[in-house]
Amino acid sequence: MKLLVTGGAGFIGSAFVRLVHKLHPDWKVTNLDLLTYAGNLDNLSSVAQNPNYSFVRGDIADMPFVEKLMSESKPDVVVHFAAESHVDRSILSPEPVIRTNFNGTFSLLESARRTGIAKFVHVSTDEVYGSIEEPYEADENYPLRTSSPYSSSKAGSDLLALSYYTTYKMDVSVTRASNNYGPFQFPEKLIPLMISNALEDKPLPIYGDGMQIRDWLYVDDHCRAILAVLDKGQAGEIYNVGGSLALPNIEVVKRILKITGKSESLMKYVTDRPGHDRRYALNCDKLTAMTGWKPLLPFEQGLEETVNFYATNPDWLARVRSGEYRKYYELNYAGR
Ligand code: NAD
Ligand code: DAU
Repeated sequence: MKLLVTGGAGFIGSAFVRLVHKLHPDWKVTNLDLLTYAGNLDNLSSVAQNPNYSFVRGDIADMPFVEKLMSESKPDVVVHFAAESHVDRSILSPEPVIRTNFNGTFSLLESARRTGIAKFVHVSTDEVYGSIEEPYEADENYPLRTSSPYSSSKAGSDLLALSYYTTYKMDVSVTRASNNYGPFQFPEKLIPLMISNALEDKPLPIYGDGMQIRDWLYVDDHCRAILAVLDKGQAGEIYNVGGSLALPNIEVVKRILKITGKSESLMKYVTDRPGHDRRYALNCDKLTAMTGWKPLLPFEQGLEETVNFYATNPDWLARVRSGEYRKYYELNYAGR
């Protein structure tokens, strides 16, 4: 099997590439990634020398380039992760988000149609359902109600991907996952930001009252779900992927402080994120019924392993937290 993976140098894409090489060593993977601030080839050092792995630097929104790559490399499947993935950045600067997430997905779908690629998995998010009131949870038929430029760009790209099934009968599946955590996550997202700040005794910025609820999914559990959809997913179908563990942010932060042995006095309540979704909740029965998939790693264990990764990889952390990160951090947190 030949895979074209987009965004394979990012957090989830790199975990997916590592997992594919572990579970299916004979599969060939081409990783197409622009190496934005979030893309990091250090995340792939364990597979870089593998003859079944190759890297191509490029922009998914550059359609002539993407079409040429697909016609030359002739993948059986496209697994599409590449995105501007951070909500706060999408609020500060929406333009690259719409360009990559919507136009980039269009460029990939259209190039895949023109070059006759057999299957396309579009990796999306539970944020497209918006905030869900207690006690409800969103299944795949739940209405889309987006709050941020990021979630709107993902909802738009989901609809575009599904239209390629309806109109052109392309074998497209869409996955919608909850909040991922694990090693190699860029430290702008809640869990790696809180861990890395705690390790350095820096304040932990908690938006609003910290009672927003997210459903946490270990990154390898997400990647196994994508493999299950590759194997058994139906064309034109959407699959929710959740971790079955909903927690208020403040509870997650307190657990991180406990594991790192730091004081709760580091917690600092700051101005809320504009348009902040209060609660995400997913029903994933469809994926489990279709493929047997379930999340495996308990949150307590996954969080310990994640803290351990950041504590034992200070060089990786220092590299990703230099330069561009500092400017972003100033912009997002100054005056909050
Ligand atoms: P990430 O920000 O860590 O990585 C994104 C990758 O995409 C980077 O390697 C970056 O260089 C690459 N990229 C960005 N723009 C590009 C472009 N124009 N052309 C080519 N490559 C480009 O993101 P992530 O957290 O790994 O998320 C991956 C996917 O999963 C995204 O589509 C995201 O919407 C989705 N998702 C993420 C989560 C989560 O909790 N992180 C949850 C559900 C769904
Ligand atoms: O739900 C899936 C989504 O999860 C993915 O589609 C996105 O790509 C991913 O970034 C993530 O989005 P969130 O906005 O939920 O993740 P983030 O880590 O930015 O924030 C998680 C929660 O923590 C949210 O309620 C905001 C809050 N938060 C976040 C940061 C960065 C804080 O309180 N303080 C912070 O400094």
